[in-house]
Amino acid sequence: MVHPIVKYPDPVLQRPAEPVTEFDDALRTLVDDMFESMYDAHGIGLAAPQIGVPKRLTVIDLSFQKNPEEKLALINPRLLAREGKVIEEEGCLSLPEIRERVARSARVRVRAQDVHGNWFERECEELLARACQHEIDHLDGILFIFRISALKRDFALRKIRKLQRAGEW
Ligand code: NI
Repeated sequence: MVHPIVKYPDPVLQRPAEPVTEFDDALRTLVDDMFESMYDAHGIGLAAPQIGVPKRLTVIDLSFQKNPEEKLALINPRLLAREGKVIEEEGCLSLPEIRERVARSARVRVRAQDVHGNWFERECEELLARACQHEIDHLDGILFIFRISALKRDFALRKIRKLQRAGEW
C-alpha cells in the first residue's frame, strides 16, 4: 500500500524514532509498503517517519527497481565507523524542491537488522554511504537542512514558506 509522504515541518520528522522490537508479518508489510511508497514518490531512500511511522526503519534502492539485489531494508541501523568527507547535493522527499550541498562521510560501516531480526554489517561508499547517513539522520529526527549552514537553511526555509503560501507544499 502506498502511503502519503509526510513533509517538513511535521513533528514526526523532527524527533527520534523508536527501536523496532517485533519482527513479525506486520513489520514485513510495513517494509513492503515503504518500498512501494518510495517508488511511487520517485525516491531512492525512505525512512519510516516519512510515512508517519516513528520507528527505526529505512529502505534504500539506488537502482530504483532495476536490480532487486540493491533493495536494502535497514532496521535499527547504526553507524559503526566513518571515514573521509564528501560534499554533494542532496534532496529529500519530505523537502520537495529543496536541494543543497551537504558534507557527509565518504565511507561508512553500518550495522542493522533485517526483516527477520538478524544483525548484519555493510560497508558503504559513494551514494550508498550518503543515503545511509541521510536515512539514519531521519531516524534521529534530523533533516538535511539542519546539516547545512544557517544562511543556506534560512534560504531553504524561506523558499518552503513561499511554497506553503502558494499552496504548493
Ligand atoms: Ni530524506
